[in-house]
Amino acid sequence: MDRSFSKFMVNIPADERSSAFSYPIVTGHDILSMFGSVASELHLPKRVAVITDPNVQNLYASHVQSSLLNFGFRPDTILIPSGEEHKTLDTVRNVYDKLHEAGFGRDAAIVAVGGGVVGDLAGFAAATYYRGVPFAQVPTTLLAQVDSSVGGKVGVNLPYGKNLIGAFYQPRFVFIDVKTLTTLAEREVRSGLAEIIKYGAILDKELFEMIADNIDALLKPDIKLFPEIIERCCSLKASVVEQDERESGYREVLNFGHTVGHAIEALTRYSVLTHGEAITYGMMVEAHMSVNHCGLPQEDARRLCSLLMRLSPPPLPEIIDDHQIYQTMFTDKKVRSGSLRLSLINAIGEGTFGETPDEHYIKQSIRKLFTKERDACGP
Ligand SMILES: NC(=O)c1ccc[n+]([C@@H]2O[C@H](COP(=O)([O-])OP(=O)(O)OC[C@H]3O[C@@H](n4cnc5c(N)ncnc54)[C@H](O)[C@@H]3O)[C@@H](O)[C@H]2O)c1
Ligand SMILES: [Zn+2]
Repeated sequence: MDRSFSKFMVNIPADERSSAFSYPIVTGHDILSMFGSVASELHLPKRVAVITDPNVQNLYASHVQSSLLNFGFRPDTILIPSGEEHKTLDTVRNVYDKLHEAGFGRDAAIVAVGGGVVGDLAGFAAATYYRGVPFAQVPTTLLAQVDSSVGGKVGVNLPYGKNLIGAFYQPRFVFIDVKTLTTLAEREVRSGLAEIIKYGAILDKELFEMIADNIDALLKPDIKLFPEIIERCCSLKASVVEQDERESGYREVLNFGHTVGHAIEALTRYSVLTHGEAITYGMMVEAHMSVNHCGLPQEDARRLCSLLMRLSPPPLPEIIDDHQIYQTMFTDKKVRSGSLRLSLINAIGEGTFGETPDEHYIKQSIRKLFTKERDACGP
């Protein structure tokens, strides 16, 4: 493999469903023309459906497609509409139809080129078409490069709940070209930073400090800072997934901010806030709960919330209120026997999971979001 790549493996141990296996995360700068070479080395089937959206098609998917052609693959492109509101079963159904029309069968492979919406949806199509065909991820947003492309959670939303349909289905490989971030809208950079701050908050205090120290440059964004951060986040995620691939416990730590965040996304019909913005609010609320329930020092909560406020999420739409958020949290996949199970933090860098704070505290923390300062961690 070329020297401009860096590569590390995600090692999934054996369980009752499958034997142990590994897959590489390849990262580099300006490497899309080498996609076909890597795909060939890793024995991706020759008949490939490149799934992408209209924003990414000409910018990057066309380069992936040319590279596949250069290395002897037979690619076709399938377009899906961009946007979270299209991460639905209807869109998946359309993808199945297009795969069928183009003559894809068991021998097909799927390559997802785009953000988390394309990756989650194309991955779900790959997990289910003909009971599963191999797939690869080419994430092109910061959020997808640090989070959604790694770990094999694929799926779509239902109108009343986020990611309620899905599978655990690991990619054959993940191919990250950091240069794709140069065309990303500022708002999408901030969304990716939200997930990066989450990793710091739950697993890596040093990363948290690095983000806090460099937040001005990251917001610009200064792309030079990203390769190291992306590799660090991918390796944090890989180590969690290696310990608990199917989220029977520990993997839940990654959901800090997400129970509240997903409720906000569902209530706003997946079309007002980005996922990153919704979890920015989610982390503020859940940090407040962490103070009350897990003994998170008030000072840590304040630091986390002020860093999150630097991401300037747009105001919450007036149509939603604290009561609705509380009710909608019960559609979360982690709810057991009617009880909420939250992923909170004991300290910065120390996530926890399966927490059920008193209803009173949960409601009080959500209500904080609707105060004038929008700062859920205020006194
Ligand atoms: N599977 C997981 O483990 C996991 C983890 C975190 C998030 N997610 C999911 O990821 C989704 C959010 O993903 P996202 O934040 O990438 O949003 P997204 O996929 O909606 O992409 C954001 C926008 O950026 C555009 N875009 C993509 N790459 C671009 C580029 N390089 N230049 C210019 N424009 C570009 C897209 O067309 C889209 O309009 C959510 O559905 C969330 O649930 C999944
Ligand atoms: Zn997320």
